[in-house]
Amino acid sequence: MHVVHTLSDLQRALAGASLRAFVPTMGNLHQGHLDLMQTARNEVDARVGLGGKTVASIFVNRLQFGPHEDFDTYPRTLDQDCDALAAHGCDVVFAPSEKELYPEAQVFKVHPPAELADILEGAFRPGFFVGVSTVVHKLFNIVQPNLAVFGKKDYQQLMVIRRMVQQMALPIDILGAETRRAADGLALSSRNGYLSELERAEAVQLSMALKALAVAAREGCVSGRLDVPALEARAMDSLRLRGWQPDYLTLRLQHDLSPVCGPSTQPLVVLGAAKLGKTRLIDNLEV
Ligand code: PAF
Repeated sequence: MHVVHTLSDLQRALAGASLRAFVPTMGNLHQGHLDLMQTARNEVDARVGLGGKTVASIFVNRLQFGPHEDFDTYPRTLDQDCDALAAHGCDVVFAPSEKELYPEAQVFKVHPPAELADILEGAFRPGFFVGVSTVVHKLFNIVQPNLAVFGKKDYQQLMVIRRMVQQMALPIDILGAETRRAADGLALSSRNGYLSELERAEAVQLSMALKALAVAAREGCVSGRLDVPALEARAMDSLRLRGWQPDYLTLRLQHDLSPVCGPSTQPLVVLGAAKLGKTRLIDNLEV
């Protein structure tokens, strides 16, 4: 596996690859990220075999962090990340410095549509999806992948990237990989590392509240009686009572994340974000 830090070294490492499969990350990798790399590897092997290459990027992207968020303290664990990627079929790691990726202030940015990017995560983290879309578009231009793998854990991010690729006519297949969970059901996340032992034991309650919301939504769609605001309020209250500060627990249409008004035959998803102590966790479940 090659570890490269500059655009020119990356081009050399990828020269001649008949297919490029890309996994963008911010590092501090866990098994969920490694699943994305394994998906990329399997796709390359199935589509072209030896001629293709898998690439992971590791770059903590300042543009997607708010002023009071954890950019400075976000764990940088390059050596461990490279060892783990090497064991999961990665051919090339691209780990640029900030100066390499943003040699001057990034004043041209990708602004995703408000109806998709200013709701849910975007409402609580203003500018987040501008930062994500801008760096992902730039990384796509640099890596020139044929396919890229993103986790469903960041459901809204996956939707934003899919829309960007479609609207900009980028010739890249976007694959969504299932969320990897711990044995108790907690979705794996780099930010789980911020939890104390007590908080870690409590953290599974977010996925449990979402599961209860999903079950109630499914029942409501079948019975024809679905009071979405009441179900969402109940889900939020169930976490509040346990000491959480929920931002949202909500039922949405899968295809554009718009609100659900009543019983629906369309594919639905429940999404949630809530703070436990100082740590903000997100999760979702397709209904
Ligand atoms: O999901 C992430 O880790 C980041 O948002 C991404 C896609 C690597 C962009 O910085």
